[in-house]
Amino acid sequence: MTTLAAEYWRRNTDLRDITPKGERFPEVGLFEALRSVCEGVVFEFGCGDGRLSPAFEPERYFGFDINPTALKVARVSNPKHRYVQNWEPADTFLAHTVLLHVPDDELPGVLDRAKSYPRIVIGEVMGRKWRRPGDPPVFNREPEEYEAMIERKARRVEVPYPRYGCNLTMLVFE
Ligand SMILES: C[S@@+](CC[C@H](N)C(=O)[O-])C[C@H]1O[C@@H](n2cnc3c(N)ncnc32)[C@H](O)[C@@H]1O
Repeated sequence: MTTLAAEYWRRNTDLRDITPKGERFPEVGLFEALRSVCEGVVFEFGCGDGRLSPAFEPERYFGFDINPTALKVARVSNPKHRYVQNWEPADTFLAHTVLLHVPDDELPGVLDRAKSYPRIVIGEVMGRKWRRPGDPPVFNREPEEYEAMIERKARRVEVPYPRYGCNLTMLVFE
Protein backbone atom coordinates (compact mmCIF):
# COMPACT_ATOMS: atom_id res chain seq x y z
CA MET A 1 0.00 0.00 0.00
CA THR A 2 1.29 3.46 -0.84
CA THR A 3 0.21 6.11 1.64
CA LEU A 4 0.23 9.87 1.20
CA ALA A 5 3.16 10.08 3.61
CA ALA A 6 5.24 7.59 1.62
CA GLU A 7 4.27 9.30 -1.62
CA TYR A 8 5.42 12.67 -0.24
CA TRP A 9 8.88 11.28 0.58
CA ARG A 10 9.24 9.27 -2.61
CA ARG A 11 8.50 12.33 -4.73
CA ASN A 12 10.53 14.76 -2.64
CA THR A 13 13.04 15.37 -5.42
CA ASP A 14 14.23 18.70 -4.06
CA LEU A 15 15.00 17.00 -0.75
CA ARG A 16 13.00 19.34 1.47
CA ASP A 17 12.46 18.49 5.12
CA ILE A 18 15.46 16.20 5.53
CA THR A 19 16.40 18.70 8.27
CA PRO A 20 14.71 21.98 9.24
CA LYS A 21 15.31 24.69 6.63
CA GLY A 22 18.77 26.23 6.85
CA GLU A 23 19.92 23.90 9.63
CA ARG A 24 21.95 20.97 8.48
CA PHE A 25 22.75 19.70 12.00
CA PRO A 26 20.16 21.01 14.48
CA GLU A 27 21.01 18.17 16.93
CA VAL A 28 23.88 18.95 19.33
CA GLY A 29 26.65 16.34 19.50
CA LEU A 30 24.86 14.10 17.04
CA PHE A 31 27.77 12.14 15.57
CA GLU A 32 29.25 11.39 19.01
CA ALA A 33 25.86 10.13 20.19
CA LEU A 34 25.34 8.00 17.07
CA ARG A 35 28.78 6.43 17.41
CA SER A 36 28.14 5.64 21.06
CA VAL A 37 24.83 3.83 20.44
CA CYS A 38 25.48 1.99 17.15
CA GLU A 39 27.62 -1.14 16.97
CA GLY A 40 29.21 -3.11 14.14
CA VAL A 41 27.69 -2.75 10.70
CA VAL A 42 24.90 -0.16 10.58
CA PHE A 43 21.83 -0.34 8.31
CA GLU A 44 20.36 3.16 8.19
CA PHE A 45 16.66 3.01 7.31
CA GLY A 46 15.65 6.34 5.72
CA CYS A 47 19.16 7.67 5.19
CA GLY A 48 17.99 10.64 3.11
CA ASP A 49 20.84 12.44 1.36
CA GLY A 50 23.48 10.68 3.46
CA ARG A 51 23.80 13.40 6.09
CA LEU A 52 24.63 10.88 8.83
CA SER A 53 26.82 8.53 6.78
CA PRO A 54 30.16 10.25 7.64
CA ALA A 55 29.55 9.32 11.29
CA PHE A 56 30.38 5.74 10.26
CA GLU A 57 33.28 4.14 8.40
CA PRO A 58 32.17 3.27 4.86
CA GLU A 59 32.73 -0.47 5.33
CA ARG A 60 30.47 -0.41 8.41
CA TYR A 61 27.49 1.26 6.76
CA PHE A 62 24.51 0.70 4.41
CA GLY A 63 22.06 3.51 3.66
CA PHE A 64 18.50 2.76 2.46
CA ASP A 65 15.73 5.16 1.43
CA ILE A 66 12.52 5.17 -0.62
CA ASN A 67 13.61 8.35 -2.38
CA PRO A 68 15.86 7.59 -5.38
CA THR A 69 16.97 11.24 -5.67
CA ALA A 70 18.15 11.22 -2.06
CA LEU A 71 20.17 8.07 -2.72
CA LYS A 72 21.76 9.64 -5.81
CA VAL A 73 22.85 12.71 -3.82
CA ALA A 74 24.10 10.52 -0.98
CA ARG A 75 26.26 8.51 -3.38
CA VAL A 76 27.87 11.65 -4.77
CA SER A 77 28.49 13.15 -1.32
CA ASN A 78 29.84 9.93 0.20
CA PRO A 79 31.31 7.90 -2.66
CA LYS A 80 32.82 5.23 -0.40
CA HIS A 81 29.62 4.51 1.55
CA ARG A 82 27.08 1.98 0.26
CA TYR A 83 23.49 2.94 -0.58
CA VAL A 84 21.01 0.18 -1.33
CA GLN A 85 17.42 -0.26 -2.44
CA ASN A 86 16.81 -3.37 -0.36
CA TRP A 87 17.21 -4.12 3.30
CA GLU A 88 20.68 -5.46 4.17
CA PRO A 89 21.59 -7.58 7.20
CA ALA A 90 23.62 -5.62 9.77
CA ASP A 91 24.39 -5.45 13.50
CA THR A 92 22.44 -2.23 14.06
CA PHE A 93 19.18 -1.02 12.54
CA LEU A 94 19.22 2.79 12.75
CA ALA A 95 16.18 4.99 12.09
CA HIS A 96 16.95 8.62 12.84
CA THR A 97 14.05 11.08 12.37
CA VAL A 98 12.31 8.59 10.07
CA LEU A 99 9.71 6.55 11.96
CA LEU A 100 7.79 9.70 12.93
CA HIS A 101 7.08 9.92 9.18
CA VAL A 102 5.72 6.37 8.98
CA PRO A 103 1.94 6.18 9.61
CA ASP A 104 0.66 4.05 12.50
CA ASP A 105 -0.82 1.36 10.27
CA GLU A 106 2.49 0.85 8.42
CA LEU A 107 4.78 0.91 11.42
CA PRO A 108 4.24 -2.71 12.60
CA GLY A 109 5.44 -3.96 9.19
CA VAL A 110 8.65 -1.93 9.50
CA LEU A 111 9.31 -2.89 13.12
CA ASP A 112 8.64 -6.59 12.52
CA ARG A 113 11.50 -6.58 10.02
CA ALA A 114 13.67 -4.37 12.23
CA LYS A 115 13.32 -6.91 15.06
CA SER A 116 15.58 -9.32 13.17
CA TYR A 117 18.55 -6.95 13.81
CA PRO A 118 20.48 -7.53 17.05
CA ARG A 119 20.40 -3.81 17.92
CA ILE A 120 17.77 -1.20 17.05
CA VAL A 121 18.32 2.53 17.47
CA ILE A 122 15.36 4.90 17.01
CA GLY A 123 16.16 8.59 17.26
CA GLU A 124 13.53 11.34 17.06
CA VAL A 125 11.62 13.92 19.06
CA MET A 126 9.25 11.73 21.05
CA GLY A 127 5.79 12.47 22.40
CA ARG A 128 2.32 12.51 20.87
CA LYS A 129 2.00 16.22 21.64
CA TRP A 130 4.26 16.87 18.61
CA ARG A 131 1.90 15.13 16.15
CA ARG A 132 0.45 17.30 13.41
CA PRO A 133 -1.26 16.87 10.06
CA GLY A 134 0.26 18.61 7.05
CA ASP A 135 2.62 17.93 4.22
CA PRO A 136 4.41 15.89 5.39
CA PRO A 137 2.36 14.82 8.41
CA VAL A 138 4.23 13.66 11.50
CA PHE A 139 3.30 10.75 13.76
CA ASN A 140 5.49 11.28 16.84
CA ARG A 141 5.09 8.59 19.49
CA GLU A 142 5.86 8.03 23.14
CA PRO A 143 8.98 5.93 23.89
CA GLU A 144 6.74 3.36 25.59
CA GLU A 145 4.85 2.80 22.34
CA TYR A 146 8.06 1.74 20.60
CA GLU A 147 8.99 -0.45 23.59
CA ALA A 148 5.61 -2.18 23.45
CA MET A 149 5.88 -2.85 19.72
CA ILE A 150 9.48 -4.06 19.90
CA GLU A 151 8.68 -6.00 23.10
CA ARG A 152 11.83 -4.82 24.88
CA LYS A 153 12.86 -1.99 27.18
CA ALA A 154 15.19 0.57 25.65
CA ARG A 155 18.09 2.56 27.07
CA ARG A 156 17.50 6.27 26.45
CA VAL A 157 20.12 8.72 25.25
CA GLU A 158 19.05 12.37 25.09
CA VAL A 159 20.46 14.68 22.41
CA PRO A 160 19.80 18.43 22.80
CA TYR A 161 17.59 19.85 20.04
CA PRO A 162 17.56 23.62 20.69
CA ARG A 163 15.59 24.34 17.52
CA TYR A 164 12.45 22.98 19.21
CA GLY A 165 13.54 23.71 22.78
CA CYS A 166 13.57 20.01 23.63
CA ASN A 167 15.68 16.87 23.38
CA LEU A 168 15.75 14.33 20.63
CA THR A 169 15.56 10.89 22.25
CA MET A 170 17.54 7.91 21.04
CA LEU A 171 15.97 4.61 22.07
CA VAL A 172 18.61 1.89 22.12
CA PHE A 173 17.28 -1.67 22.03
CA GLU A 174 20.31 -3.85 22.78
C1 LIG B 1 13.66 13.66 7.93
S1 LIG B 1 14.50 12.67 6.74
C2 LIG B 1 15.87 12.02 7.72
C3 LIG B 1 17.02 11.51 6.88
C4 LIG B 1 18.23 11.03 7.68
N1 LIG B 1 17.90 9.91 8.55
C5 LIG B 1 18.84 12.17 8.48
O1 LIG B 1 18.65 12.21 9.72
O2 LIG B 1 19.47 13.03 7.87
C6 LIG B 1 13.41 11.26 6.60
C7 LIG B 1 13.85 10.29 5.51
O3 LIG B 1 13.10 9.08 5.63
C8 LIG B 1 12.74 8.64 4.33
N2 LIG B 1 11.54 7.80 4.47
C9 LIG B 1 10.29 8.20 4.78
N3 LIG B 1 9.46 7.14 4.80
C10 LIG B 1 10.21 6.05 4.50
C11 LIG B 1 9.93 4.66 4.34
N4 LIG B 1 8.69 4.17 4.52
N5 LIG B 1 10.94 3.82 4.01
C12 LIG B 1 12.21 4.31 3.82
N6 LIG B 1 12.53 5.61 3.94
C13 LIG B 1 11.54 6.48 4.28
C14 LIG B 1 12.54 9.91 3.53
O4 LIG B 1 12.64 9.71 2.14
C15 LIG B 1 13.64 10.81 4.09
O5 LIG B 1 14.82 10.71 3.35
